[in-house]
Parts: sequence; structure tokens; C-alpha cells
Amino acid sequence: MDIYLDTASLDEVKAAVAWGVLRGVTTNPSHVAKAGVRDMRAHIQEICWIADVPISVEVVTTDADEMVAQGLDFALWSPNVVVKLPTIPAGLNAMSRVTKTSVTATCKGCSHFEGCPIRARFAEKNALTRIPEVNATLIFTANQAILALAAGASYVSPFVGRLDAVGEDGVILVADIAHILRIQQQPGKIIAAALRHPVHVTAVAKAGAQIATMAYTVLKQLIDHPLTEQGLAGFMADYERSLNQ
Ligand code: E4P
Repeated sequence: MDIYLDTASLDEVKAAVAWGVLRGVTTNPSHVAKAGVRDMRAHIQEICWIADVPISVEVVTTDADEMVAQGLDFALWSPNVVVKLPTIPAGLNAMSRVTKTSVTATCKGCSHFEGCPIRARFAEKNALTRIPEVNATLIFTANQAILALAAGASYVSPFVGRLDAVGEDGVILVADIAHILRIQQQPGKIIAAALRHPVHVTAVAKAGAQIATMAYTVLKQLIDHPLTEQGLAGFMADYERSLNQ
């Protein structure tokens, strides 16, 4: 299962990149506000420079035409941009239109433009001009996922922790969507989102999510174990002792 970070914090993205496990970043308007972002384009391009992975960028409107305009503009910023759209009727309309429109990532205004190896890699594969991928967000039912996939989304994001918080079972939703994708032999990936703790991460992996997106705090919890710390300290101490014998 691919590990994504759910954040707009450059420091958190840097830290996750250093682990060598980061396969994507999902942002949303709340993350952007929390990170105090003033210039969205420049900020997303900075994330692209640091991580060079798919980056979901979410529209901030409920109007279909505006969603399409915003999404297609985001897609110009970097070939790594994935357009994130809400799973509401206007969002479905925008998904179907965005995924029928070819856009060239010009990387306009990027401070890393000159000699950028990321851009060069996409150019080599003739992939700067592409149909933008869409991440359908705010999914709380299997039927919403079915509709988003029908509208052209490549990714569906069920919000596991938010369902749990209202007494439903978010992991069952992930399992249901994974089952549907399998038996329908349908392309499309599940980004299990709003994961609150390590148990969620293991559970969505077992339920069939191809991707888990999580806060940096949850990512850190995945690696920590007192027995690992203890064991390592023991090995180091034994090694030091052997040097002094
Ligand atoms: C997913 O892409 C969303 O950004 C995210 O998981 C929202 O979850 P939250 O409930 O932690 O805000």
C-alpha cells in the first residue's frame, strides 16, 4: 500500500521524504489555511520540488464551472498535480469535464523551472500534456465512490475516521469499495483518508486500499515501538562492550 501524507506543511513533507516512503501528498483547504499559505501556486510547486510525487490540490468552490476552471489551472502548475474535487453533483459534473480536457503543465512561475529534473522526466515521456487525474474527496458511501468513478475520477477518498466518529465503520466502507473495484474489474484507486491512528492504517491495508493518506503524527506512530528502541539500544551497548574487551 502506498503511503501519502495528508498535509500542506513543507516541513512535514520534507521529513516524510527523508524516510524514503512517501508516494504522494494530499492537501485540502483546511491544511492550506493551517500552513498559512498565501501563494497556493508557489506552495504546491515547492511541495512538488521537495517530494516529486502526485499532489492532490482541492478546489475551493461549489460551482461546477468554477471547479473546472480552478482544477484546470492547478494542472498547469506541475505535472504532479492531481485535481481534488468534492463528491457532490457539481463535483461529478466537474470530474467528467476535467477528465476530458487535455492540459499542458507549463509549471508557470515555478522558482525551480530552470533545468528542473522533474519537468525533464515528464517531458522525456511526453507526459507534460495530459488529461489531469482526479481525486474524488469527501466520500462516505460506496455509491458516492461508484458515481465518482463513473464521472472519471482515478482516485476515491473515503474518510474513514470521520465515519467512525459518527458511529459508522470507515474500514467497512473501504472494504466495500475495494470489493466493488475487484468484481467490476474497474480501474480506480482507493485513498483511505482521515486515518486517526496506526490501527486504521493496518486495517485499510487489509481491506484493500491501494493508498493510505495520513497526518504526519500518524505516520510517526507507525514506526515507533518500545521494543525496537530497546532492542537497538541493547545491540549498540553489546557492540560497544565488545570493542572494549
Ligand atoms: C483527504 O484527502 C483529506 O484531506 C483528509 O483525510 C481529511 O481528513 P481530516 O478528517 O483529518 O480533516
